[in-house]
Amino acid sequence: MIEGKKVLTGVKPTGKPHLGNYFGAIKPAIEMGKTAKQHIMFIADYHAINAEKRVDVLNKEIKEIACIYLAAGLDPKKSIFYRQSDVPEIFEMTTILTAFTPKGFMNKAHAYKAAVDKNVAAGKPNDDGINMGLYTYPILMAADILSFDTDIVPVGKDQVQHVEIARDIAGAINAYYGKDVLVQPEAAFDDNIAVIPGTDGRKMSKSYGNVIPMFEDDKVLKKAVFSIKTDSKPVEEPKNPEEVLVYEIYKAFAPDDKVQEMAEGLKNGKLGYGHIKNMLLDAILEKTTKEREIYNYYMNHFDEVQAILDEGAVRARAIASRTLKRLKETVFGF
Ligand code: ADP
Ligand code: TRP
Repeated sequence: MIEGKKVLTGVKPTGKPHLGNYFGAIKPAIEMGKTAKQHIMFIADYHAINAEKRVDVLNKEIKEIACIYLAAGLDPKKSIFYRQSDVPEIFEMTTILTAFTPKGFMNKAHAYKAAVDKNVAAGKPNDDGINMGLYTYPILMAADILSFDTDIVPVGKDQVQHVEIARDIAGAINAYYGKDVLVQPEAAFDDNIAVIPGTDGRKMSKSYGNVIPMFEDDKVLKKAVFSIKTDSKPVEEPKNPEEVLVYEIYKAFAPDDKVQEMAEGLKNGKLGYGHIKNMLLDAILEKTTKEREIYNYYMNHFDEVQAILDEGAVRARAIASRTLKRLKETVFGF
Protein backbone atom coordinates (compact mmCIF):
# COMPACT_ATOMS: atom_id res chain seq x y z
CA MET A 1 0.00 0.00 0.00
CA ILE A 2 2.98 2.28 0.59
CA GLU A 3 4.82 1.58 -2.67
CA GLY A 4 4.77 4.59 -4.96
CA LYS A 5 3.28 6.81 -2.25
CA LYS A 6 4.54 9.94 -0.54
CA VAL A 7 4.60 9.28 3.18
CA LEU A 8 5.15 11.81 5.98
CA THR A 9 5.27 11.55 9.76
CA GLY A 10 5.92 14.16 12.41
CA VAL A 11 7.14 13.37 15.90
CA LYS A 12 6.84 15.62 18.88
CA PRO A 13 9.98 15.76 21.02
CA THR A 14 8.47 14.80 24.35
CA GLY A 15 10.94 12.66 26.24
CA LYS A 16 12.53 9.34 25.57
CA PRO A 17 10.16 6.77 24.12
CA HIS A 18 8.99 3.67 25.96
CA LEU A 19 8.69 0.12 24.66
CA GLY A 20 5.14 0.82 23.41
CA ASN A 21 6.20 3.90 21.41
CA TYR A 22 9.25 2.11 20.11
CA PHE A 23 7.66 -1.11 18.83
CA GLY A 24 4.24 0.45 18.24
CA ALA A 25 5.23 3.59 16.35
CA ILE A 26 8.92 4.31 15.77
CA LYS A 27 9.98 0.99 14.24
CA PRO A 28 6.90 0.63 11.99
CA ALA A 29 7.33 4.22 10.72
CA ILE A 30 10.97 3.61 9.86
CA GLU A 31 10.08 0.33 8.12
CA MET A 32 7.47 2.11 6.03
CA GLY A 33 10.05 4.60 4.85
CA LYS A 34 11.97 1.88 3.09
CA THR A 35 9.34 1.27 0.41
CA ALA A 36 7.74 4.71 0.07
CA LYS A 37 8.33 6.84 -3.02
CA GLN A 38 9.09 9.83 -0.81
CA HIS A 39 9.57 9.45 2.91
CA ILE A 40 9.63 12.42 5.22
CA MET A 41 10.19 12.29 8.96
CA PHE A 42 10.45 15.49 10.96
CA ILE A 43 10.72 16.73 14.50
CA ALA A 44 7.67 18.85 15.29
CA ASP A 45 9.47 21.36 17.48
CA TYR A 46 7.03 24.23 16.91
CA HIS A 47 4.22 21.95 18.01
CA ALA A 48 6.22 21.19 21.13
CA ILE A 49 6.50 24.79 22.33
CA ASN A 50 2.76 24.98 22.91
CA ALA A 51 3.27 22.79 25.95
CA GLU A 52 6.96 23.06 26.81
CA LYS A 53 8.80 26.35 26.98
CA ARG A 54 11.82 25.55 29.13
CA VAL A 55 14.76 25.96 26.77
CA ASP A 56 16.97 23.34 28.40
CA VAL A 57 14.22 20.71 28.34
CA LEU A 58 13.28 21.45 24.71
CA ASN A 59 16.89 21.39 23.63
CA LYS A 60 17.51 18.05 25.32
CA GLU A 61 14.35 16.46 23.98
CA ILE A 62 14.92 17.60 20.41
CA LYS A 63 18.44 16.20 20.48
CA GLU A 64 17.30 12.92 22.03
CA ILE A 65 14.54 12.31 19.54
CA ALA A 66 16.83 13.05 16.58
CA CYS A 67 19.42 10.55 17.88
CA ILE A 68 16.77 7.95 18.64
CA TYR A 69 15.34 7.94 15.12
CA LEU A 70 18.78 7.69 13.56
CA ALA A 71 19.77 4.92 15.99
CA ALA A 72 16.54 3.05 15.29
CA GLY A 73 17.47 2.83 11.63
CA LEU A 74 16.14 5.91 9.87
CA ASP A 75 18.28 6.25 6.76
CA PRO A 76 18.88 9.95 6.14
CA LYS A 77 19.90 9.26 2.54
CA LYS A 78 16.55 7.74 1.72
CA SER A 79 14.32 9.61 4.14
CA ILE A 80 14.22 13.38 4.47
CA PHE A 81 14.79 14.18 8.15
CA TYR A 82 14.58 17.73 9.48
CA ARG A 83 13.39 20.05 12.20
CA GLN A 84 10.06 21.71 11.44
CA SER A 85 11.38 25.11 12.57
CA ASP A 86 14.09 24.95 9.87
CA VAL A 87 11.51 25.01 7.06
CA PRO A 88 9.88 28.48 7.03
CA GLU A 89 7.74 27.64 3.98
CA ILE A 90 5.55 25.57 6.30
CA PHE A 91 4.63 28.70 8.25
CA GLU A 92 3.76 30.70 5.16
CA MET A 93 1.58 27.80 4.13
CA THR A 94 -0.06 27.86 7.58
CA THR A 95 -1.15 31.47 7.05
CA ILE A 96 -2.82 30.69 3.73
CA LEU A 97 -4.56 27.66 5.21
CA THR A 98 -6.05 29.68 8.08
CA ALA A 99 -8.08 31.64 5.52
CA PHE A 100 -9.74 28.42 4.40
CA THR A 101 -10.25 26.83 7.81
CA PRO A 102 -13.65 27.25 9.47
CA LYS A 103 -13.16 28.22 13.11
CA GLY A 104 -15.58 25.43 14.05
CA PHE A 105 -13.01 22.84 12.96
CA MET A 106 -10.70 24.05 15.71
CA ASN A 107 -13.42 23.97 18.37
CA LYS A 108 -13.94 20.31 17.57
CA ALA A 109 -10.27 19.31 17.29
CA HIS A 110 -9.22 16.52 19.57
CA ALA A 111 -6.16 18.16 21.17
CA TYR A 112 -8.13 21.30 22.07
CA LYS A 113 -11.19 19.40 23.29
CA ALA A 114 -9.03 17.19 25.50
CA ALA A 115 -7.50 20.29 27.10
CA VAL A 116 -10.96 21.83 27.69
CA ASP A 117 -12.28 18.56 29.17
CA LYS A 118 -9.35 18.52 31.57
CA ASN A 119 -10.12 22.07 32.69
CA VAL A 120 -13.80 21.31 33.16
CA ALA A 121 -12.98 18.22 35.22
CA ALA A 122 -10.71 20.35 37.42
CA GLY A 123 -13.44 22.99 37.85
CA LYS A 124 -11.41 25.61 35.94
CA PRO A 125 -12.66 27.96 33.17
CA ASN A 126 -12.85 26.13 29.80
CA ASP A 127 -9.92 27.86 28.15
CA ASP A 128 -7.70 28.14 31.20
CA GLY A 129 -4.03 27.91 30.24
CA ILE A 130 -4.85 27.11 26.60
CA ASN A 131 -2.74 29.07 24.12
CA MET A 132 -3.52 29.82 20.45
CA GLY A 133 -0.80 27.40 19.41
CA LEU A 134 -2.73 24.53 20.92
CA TYR A 135 -6.02 25.84 19.55
CA THR A 136 -4.78 26.13 15.97
CA TYR A 137 -2.57 23.05 16.25
CA PRO A 138 -4.36 21.20 13.41
CA ILE A 139 -3.69 24.04 10.92
CA LEU A 140 0.05 23.86 11.48
CA MET A 141 -0.19 20.11 11.23
CA ALA A 142 -2.12 20.49 7.95
CA ALA A 143 0.65 22.75 6.62
CA ASP A 144 3.25 20.14 7.66
CA ILE A 145 1.40 17.57 5.59
CA LEU A 146 0.13 19.59 2.61
CA SER A 147 3.48 21.32 1.96
CA PHE A 148 4.89 18.01 0.72
CA ASP A 149 2.01 16.72 -1.42
CA THR A 150 1.73 13.88 1.09
CA ASP A 151 -0.45 10.88 0.18
CA ILE A 152 -0.19 8.92 3.42
CA VAL A 153 0.26 9.98 7.04
CA PRO A 154 0.88 7.04 9.38
CA VAL A 155 -0.39 8.06 12.80
CA GLY A 156 -1.69 6.75 16.09
CA LYS A 157 -5.47 6.68 16.55
CA ASP A 158 -5.54 10.01 18.39
CA GLN A 159 -4.11 11.85 15.37
CA VAL A 160 -6.49 10.53 12.70
CA GLN A 161 -8.90 13.43 13.17
CA HIS A 162 -6.09 15.96 12.67
CA VAL A 163 -5.18 14.34 9.35
CA GLU A 164 -8.83 14.45 8.34
CA ILE A 165 -8.84 18.19 9.07
CA ALA A 166 -5.81 18.55 6.74
CA ARG A 167 -7.71 16.58 4.12
CA ASP A 168 -10.78 18.82 4.51
CA ILE A 169 -8.77 22.05 4.28
CA ALA A 170 -7.08 20.82 1.08
CA GLY A 171 -10.50 19.79 -0.23
CA ALA A 172 -11.93 23.25 0.51
CA ILE A 173 -9.09 24.96 -1.37
CA ASN A 174 -9.37 22.60 -4.34
CA ALA A 175 -13.14 23.09 -4.46
CA TYR A 176 -12.88 26.89 -4.29
CA TYR A 177 -10.41 27.13 -7.19
CA GLY A 178 -11.96 24.24 -9.11
CA LYS A 179 -8.67 22.38 -9.53
CA ASP A 180 -6.35 20.05 -7.66
CA VAL A 181 -3.98 22.55 -6.10
CA LEU A 182 -3.21 20.46 -3.02
CA VAL A 183 -3.01 16.71 -2.54
CA GLN A 184 -5.61 15.37 -0.11
CA PRO A 185 -3.80 13.09 2.34
CA GLU A 186 -5.05 9.96 4.03
CA ALA A 187 -4.28 8.78 7.55
CA ALA A 188 -2.88 5.28 7.79
CA PHE A 189 -3.69 3.55 11.00
CA ASP A 190 -2.28 0.07 11.41
CA ASP A 191 -4.70 -2.11 13.38
CA ASN A 192 -2.22 -5.01 13.33
CA ILE A 193 0.21 -3.27 15.63
CA ALA A 194 -0.22 -4.74 19.07
CA VAL A 195 -0.90 -2.44 21.97
CA ILE A 196 1.83 -3.25 24.48
CA PRO A 197 0.68 -3.39 28.10
CA GLY A 198 2.62 -1.56 30.79
CA THR A 199 4.04 -2.84 34.07
CA ASP A 200 0.59 -2.64 35.76
CA GLY A 201 -1.35 -4.32 32.94
CA ARG A 202 -2.96 -1.18 31.52
CA LYS A 203 -1.82 0.15 28.11
CA MET A 204 1.78 1.24 28.44
CA SER A 205 1.61 5.03 28.55
CA LYS A 206 3.61 7.95 29.91
CA SER A 207 0.45 9.24 31.51
CA TYR A 208 -0.01 6.04 33.57
CA GLY A 209 3.59 5.94 34.79
CA ASN A 210 3.78 2.24 33.90
CA VAL A 211 6.40 2.34 31.17
CA ILE A 212 9.44 0.28 30.33
CA PRO A 213 11.77 2.99 29.02
CA MET A 214 14.03 2.56 26.01
CA PHE A 215 17.46 4.11 25.52
CA GLU A 216 18.07 4.30 29.26
CA ASP A 217 20.84 2.56 31.21
CA ASP A 218 20.56 -1.20 31.76
CA LYS A 219 19.89 -0.56 35.45
CA VAL A 220 16.81 1.57 34.75
CA LEU A 221 15.53 -0.95 32.23
CA LYS A 222 16.04 -3.85 34.63
CA LYS A 223 14.22 -2.06 37.43
CA ALA A 224 11.21 -1.45 35.17
CA VAL A 225 11.11 -5.05 33.91
CA PHE A 226 11.30 -6.42 37.45
CA SER A 227 8.45 -4.14 38.53
CA ILE A 228 5.99 -5.85 36.16
CA LYS A 229 3.01 -7.10 38.13
CA THR A 230 2.84 -10.84 38.90
CA ASP A 231 0.94 -12.98 41.36
CA SER A 232 2.51 -15.23 43.98
CA LYS A 233 2.27 -18.60 42.18
CA PRO A 234 5.41 -20.70 42.77
CA VAL A 235 7.61 -21.78 39.85
CA GLU A 236 6.28 -25.34 39.64
CA GLU A 237 2.62 -24.33 39.50
CA PRO A 238 1.39 -24.46 35.87
CA LYS A 239 0.33 -21.04 34.61
CA ASN A 240 -1.87 -19.92 31.76
CA PRO A 241 0.46 -17.72 29.64
CA GLU A 242 -2.43 -15.51 28.54
CA GLU A 243 -2.87 -14.45 32.17
CA VAL A 244 0.80 -13.58 32.66
CA LEU A 245 1.60 -9.95 31.99
CA VAL A 246 5.33 -10.51 31.35
CA TYR A 247 4.36 -12.97 28.63
CA GLU A 248 1.92 -10.47 27.07
CA ILE A 249 4.68 -7.87 26.80
CA TYR A 250 7.20 -10.44 25.50
CA LYS A 251 4.73 -11.63 22.86
CA ALA A 252 4.47 -8.15 21.36
CA PHE A 253 7.97 -8.24 19.92
CA ALA A 254 9.98 -11.40 20.69
CA PRO A 255 10.49 -13.98 17.89
CA ASP A 256 7.77 -16.66 17.59
CA ASP A 257 9.94 -19.60 18.69
CA LYS A 258 11.01 -17.76 21.84
CA VAL A 259 7.42 -16.80 22.63
CA GLN A 260 6.46 -20.46 22.21
CA GLU A 261 9.27 -21.50 24.54
CA MET A 262 8.05 -19.12 27.25
CA ALA A 263 4.45 -20.29 26.85
CA GLU A 264 5.47 -23.97 27.19
CA GLY A 265 7.67 -23.25 30.22
CA LEU A 266 4.82 -21.46 31.98
CA LYS A 267 2.28 -24.17 31.18
CA ASN A 268 4.42 -27.03 32.44
CA GLY A 269 5.72 -25.31 35.56
CA LYS A 270 9.33 -25.06 34.41
CA LEU A 271 9.52 -21.27 34.34
CA GLY A 272 8.86 -18.90 37.23
CA TYR A 273 8.35 -15.15 37.16
CA GLY A 274 12.03 -14.43 37.85
CA HIS A 275 13.04 -16.53 34.84
CA ILE A 276 10.62 -14.95 32.45
CA LYS A 277 11.50 -11.43 33.58
CA ASN A 278 15.10 -12.21 32.77
CA MET A 279 14.04 -13.60 29.39
CA LEU A 280 12.14 -10.39 28.70
CA LEU A 281 15.07 -8.25 29.78
CA ASP A 282 17.43 -10.26 27.55
CA ALA A 283 15.06 -9.95 24.59
CA ILE A 284 14.85 -6.18 24.99
CA LEU A 285 18.61 -5.89 25.35
CA GLU A 286 19.22 -8.18 22.38
CA LYS A 287 16.94 -6.12 20.19
CA THR A 288 18.24 -2.77 21.32
CA THR A 289 21.84 -2.97 22.57
CA LYS A 290 23.30 -1.98 19.23
CA GLU A 291 20.81 0.82 18.80
CA ARG A 292 21.52 2.15 22.26
CA GLU A 293 25.20 2.24 21.40
CA ILE A 294 24.50 4.20 18.23
CA TYR A 295 22.21 6.47 20.22
CA ASN A 296 24.97 7.20 22.74
CA TYR A 297 27.43 7.80 19.92
CA TYR A 298 25.16 10.35 18.27
CA MET A 299 24.40 12.09 21.58
CA ASN A 300 28.16 12.56 22.00
CA HIS A 301 28.67 13.62 18.37
CA PHE A 302 25.66 15.82 17.86
CA ASP A 303 27.44 17.85 15.18
CA GLU A 304 26.97 14.84 12.87
CA VAL A 305 23.26 14.78 13.62
CA GLN A 306 23.04 18.52 13.10
CA ALA A 307 24.61 18.11 9.65
CA ILE A 308 22.00 15.47 8.76
CA LEU A 309 19.16 17.73 9.94
CA ASP A 310 20.60 20.71 8.04
CA GLU A 311 20.79 18.71 4.84
CA GLY A 312 17.27 17.40 5.43
CA ALA A 313 15.99 20.97 5.80
CA VAL A 314 17.55 21.93 2.46
CA ARG A 315 15.83 19.01 0.73
CA ALA A 316 12.55 19.72 2.52
CA ARG A 317 12.62 23.41 1.59
CA ALA A 318 13.14 22.54 -2.07
CA ILE A 319 9.88 20.55 -2.06
CA ALA A 320 7.87 22.85 0.21
CA SER A 321 8.80 25.96 -1.77
CA ARG A 322 7.48 24.38 -4.98
CA THR A 323 4.15 23.56 -3.34
CA LEU A 324 3.93 27.02 -1.81
CA LYS A 325 4.67 28.70 -5.14
CA ARG A 326 1.91 26.67 -6.81
CA LEU A 327 -0.54 27.64 -4.08
CA LYS A 328 0.40 31.33 -4.09
CA GLU A 329 0.08 31.52 -7.86
CA THR A 330 -3.40 30.08 -7.51
CA VAL A 331 -4.41 32.34 -4.63
CA PHE A 332 -3.07 35.62 -6.03
CA GLY A 333 -3.34 34.87 -9.74
CA PHE A 334 0.36 35.42 -10.51
P1 ADP B 1 1.84 7.84 25.56
O1 ADP B 1 0.54 7.10 25.72
O2 ADP B 1 2.93 7.21 26.34
O3 ADP B 1 1.70 9.34 25.83
P2 ADP B 1 1.85 8.65 22.85
O4 ADP B 1 0.37 8.88 22.89
O5 ADP B 1 2.76 9.82 22.84
O6 ADP B 1 2.25 7.69 24.06
O7 ADP B 1 2.14 7.70 21.61
C1 ADP B 1 3.06 7.96 20.58
C2 ADP B 1 2.96 6.81 19.59
O8 ADP B 1 3.29 5.55 20.21
C3 ADP B 1 1.56 6.63 19.01
O9 ADP B 1 1.67 6.37 17.62
C4 ADP B 1 1.00 5.43 19.72
O10 ADP B 1 0.10 4.71 18.90
C5 ADP B 1 2.24 4.62 20.04
N1 ADP B 1 2.03 3.92 21.32
C6 ADP B 1 1.92 4.51 22.52
N2 ADP B 1 1.73 3.60 23.50
C7 ADP B 1 1.72 2.38 22.90
C8 ADP B 1 1.56 1.05 23.38
N3 ADP B 1 1.39 0.79 24.67
N4 ADP B 1 1.60 0.03 22.48
C9 ADP B 1 1.79 0.30 21.16
N5 ADP B 1 1.94 1.54 20.64
C10 ADP B 1 1.90 2.59 21.49
N1 TRP C 1 0.49 15.88 16.18
C1 TRP C 1 1.40 14.78 16.09
C2 TRP C 1 1.51 14.09 17.47
O1 TRP C 1 1.13 14.67 18.46
C3 TRP C 1 2.77 15.23 15.62
C4 TRP C 1 2.70 15.88 14.27
C5 TRP C 1 2.86 17.21 13.99
C6 TRP C 1 2.42 15.23 13.05
N2 TRP C 1 2.72 17.42 12.64
C7 TRP C 1 2.45 16.23 12.04
C8 TRP C 1 2.16 13.91 12.71
C9 TRP C 1 2.20 15.93 10.69
C10 TRP C 1 1.92 13.61 11.37
C11 TRP C 1 1.94 14.61 10.38
O2 TRP C 1 1.97 12.97 17.55
